[in-house]
Amino acid sequence: MLSDEDLDAVRFAGDAVEYVDQRLLPHTVERRQARTVEELEDAIRTLAVRGAPAIGVFGAYGVALLRSALQDDAAFDAAAARVRNARPTAVNLAWAVDRVRGSADMLAEARAIHDEQRAVDARIGEAALELFPKDATVLTHCNTGPIATAGGGTALGAIVRAHRAGRHLRVFVDETRPLLQGSRLTQFELNKAGVDATLIVDGAAALTMQRCAVDLVIVGADRIARNGDTANKIGTYGVAIAAAHHGIPFYVAAPRSTFDFSIQNGADIPIEERPADEVRGSAAHRDAAVFNPAFDITPGRLIAAFVTEYGLVRPPYADSIPALQDRPNIAALAPNA
Ligand code: MRU
Repeated sequence: MLSDEDLDAVRFAGDAVEYVDQRLLPHTVERRQARTVEELEDAIRTLAVRGAPAIGVFGAYGVALLRSALQDDAAFDAAAARVRNARPTAVNLAWAVDRVRGSADMLAEARAIHDEQRAVDARIGEAALELFPKDATVLTHCNTGPIATAGGGTALGAIVRAHRAGRHLRVFVDETRPLLQGSRLTQFELNKAGVDATLIVDGAAALTMQRCAVDLVIVGADRIARNGDTANKIGTYGVAIAAAHHGIPFYVAAPRSTFDFSIQNGADIPIEERPADEVRGSAAHRDAAVFNPAFDITPGRLIAAFVTEYGLVRPPYADSIPALQDRPNIAALAPNA
């Protein structure tokens, strides 16, 4: 029987950063340790550790660890930059590395980031409750659960919170090609939490909305621009278009650390392109030309609201998103303030 600890996404282990290897889930639960910059970078690049907040927590511990191992400042700077740049789209990684590097006690700061993520996720779950009717059919994409945040999860955390609050939910889970974060991870986490979850192929999302009375869509995010344009796992944009077509509200659950206040709109968000072999699986030719963007940008106008640790953030986003910058840090807030 798996304990929650077995599935802890990220943990500081004194002389290493420990993580559950998400590439092997759900069939194999294997914990690994990263010590060197190569191991840290590799774990993020290969998606052994994945999900925007989780790579932020992992990068934070990693950089604190590297600081204690590398006495030479130039060597440390170069190593920290490699961790910071291991993946380009999720802003949480750069945000967490910069925050740790700017503090006097890097390990204490990494621990604070991790603790805050748990508190933030709990608040997101509370804030999202009002979005779920008593009987709700929900659709989600990719994976946004505890293993994606190193906390309680964002969109998936909100679904589990609503289930525990007594809502009768049926959740349609996009399998999320090409790496199947939906079928491998979301389905697994929802089953574990006792939520009624039904797997669909990504191409079935529009039909599911048309035929299965979907009440709402809720997903996570990797980076959100000042106008609400949102980067998330490839396929999210199509889900948002289909939801708009069917008049279904489309929500994005994400912590403030996923908002990039330096970016005006989605055109400035870097989109990671990943190796062709992730897609070629059953292609006619092993050398088939492939375009494999890992993320897409959903325009802010398709998003009914963001669910954050500060509550629901509604349009007009040009006003409501920049205002988030002035809110006090979560650590300074009472649990339900
Ligand atoms: O490539 P991944 O699996 O790291 O992509 C993850 C997503 O797109 C998630 O939806 C996002 O990071 C939010 S995780 C709470």
